Amino acid sequence: MSSGLVHTAYILAAVFFILSLAGLSKQKTARLGNYYGMAGMSIALIATIFSQGYEGLIWTVIAMLIGGTIGIKYTKKVEMTKIPELVAILHSFVGMAAILVGYNNYILLQEEYITQTEQVIHLVEIFLAIFIGSITFSGSLVAFGKLREILSSKPLNIPYKHIWNIAALLISIFLLFQFIETGTNWKVLILTTTTLISLAFGYHLVASIGGADMPVVISMLNSYSGWAAAATGFMLQNNLLIITGALVGSSGAILSYIMCKAMNRSFISVISGGFGQIQTIDSDSTIGKYYTTDIENVTKTLINSKSIIIVPGYGMAVAQAQYPVYEMTEKLRARNIDVKFAIHPVAGRLPGHMNVLLAEAKVPYDLVFEMDEINHKLSKTDTVLVIGANDTVNPAALEEENSLIAGMPVLKVWHARNVIILKRSMNTGYAGIQNKLFFKENTAMLFGDAKDNIEAISQTLSNRKN
Ligand code: TAP
Repeated sequence: MSSGLVHTAYILAAVFFILSLAGLSKQKTARLGNYYGMAGMSIALIATIFSQGYEGLIWTVIAMLIGGTIGIKYTKKVEMTKIPELVAILHSFVGMAAILVGYNNYILLQEEYITQTEQVIHLVEIFLAIFIGSITFSGSLVAFGKLREILSSKPLNIPYKHIWNIAALLISIFLLFQFIETGTNWKVLILTTTTLISLAFGYHLVASIGGADMPVVISMLNSYSGWAAAATGFMLQNNLLIITGALVGSSGAILSYIMCKAMNRSFISVISGGFGQIQTIDSDSTIGKYYTTDIENVTKTLINSKSIIIVPGYGMAVAQAQYPVYEMTEKLRARNIDVKFAIHPVAGRLPGHMNVLLAEAKVPYDLVFEMDEINHKLSKTDTVLVIGANDTVNPAALEEENSLIAGMPVLKVWHARNVIILKRSMNTGYAGIQNKLFFKENTAMLFGDAKDNIEAISQTLSNRKN
């Protein structure tokens, strides 16, 4: 392929990537957005493979076959609740790729004949790609560990944590200048030291962030992986990689910003590993007495209500209770009871998680309300049914200044006349803190798997004549 044709193909691929982002921004066009992305990536791959001077077709095909087979095998099995983990591990691959291409470019640089200025630019590109790539790699692995619950979701609080972060940054800047200035023998040592420092930096940045802020961390790492790809693009002088990296980097940064606003978090604080956050005391897990209830009583309360709001959370996704929930909703509506759904922006484990589950179960859109649309209606509601939600209905966010979730907007379900909580135990939610809601006088706990309990309520509703 001539270089003109390759560049035309790259521009076309870039247009597809932009269309893909536009498509992904709305639920209705998300599927089309994915197809645009696939088309863009196919064009990019074909143009790269058939460009002049391209070597190693066999290796590329082998790598694609191995990678593609592993990718298809695993992603087909991944449940929706595990998608954030998958995204986190994929981000770590982008980070690792940037590190490997960085070292590879450094080794090849020795053999190339380039001017002094070009060499400085190239060294900076290599350094930045390895620096950003290492942060992305280790940060993403920590995010994966936290989401998989291999690592604790509580924030790591080592003494003088912000000083450590600033020191890592300043030392890295110093090393960058040394990398450009010193002789070849020292360069490898400097690059290795930078890699180790930035790996530790990435680990610390993400480990310092509490469980409740993980949604922002995922989109932040998405952004970092984009910048790592852009830095790789500069090294390889590949314009398409620069464009794609910049698109991913900036869209990830915008998403992080939007999520921070929605959760009332400081963007700067989150991207700098919790900078300026109040160090928190966990709520006491033995807050007091709580009330338990059973299927019969819950059914009675529901039937005697004129208005019901259902608040789904991560537990509903785990139990796959969305189908029986809709069935129960229809039975209640048939009794002329007003039933609505209230969705918290970070309920579940990925943006829009609850909306997707409810859409899957064919719950009509007009029954589903976002938090800001429905919060003021909760005080006029007879019964709230909280299905596997915890952090997103925790009053500590508004009442306890020192709580890990302080300031995060929550659904004020305790304002309703009755609150029924469906979960399996008194265990904490993702943020790892106890929930005072469970101990309120108007709240009753219905323990057990959400799906089993909802099916039982639904059955009892059918069996009752009035
Ligand atoms: P969580 O606070 O995580 O609470 C979910 C609750 O569901 C748990 O307390 C658990 O209690 C219960 N549960 C689990 N399996 C269940 C089952 N089979 N049946 C019944 N209950 C079950 O959920 P949430 O209120 O949706 O809040 C989401 C949290 O995740 C927030 O802290 C958010 O910041 C974080 N997060 C969100 C995202 C995005 S983008 N949405 C991404 C990463 C993290 P038991 O163990 O007692 O049953």
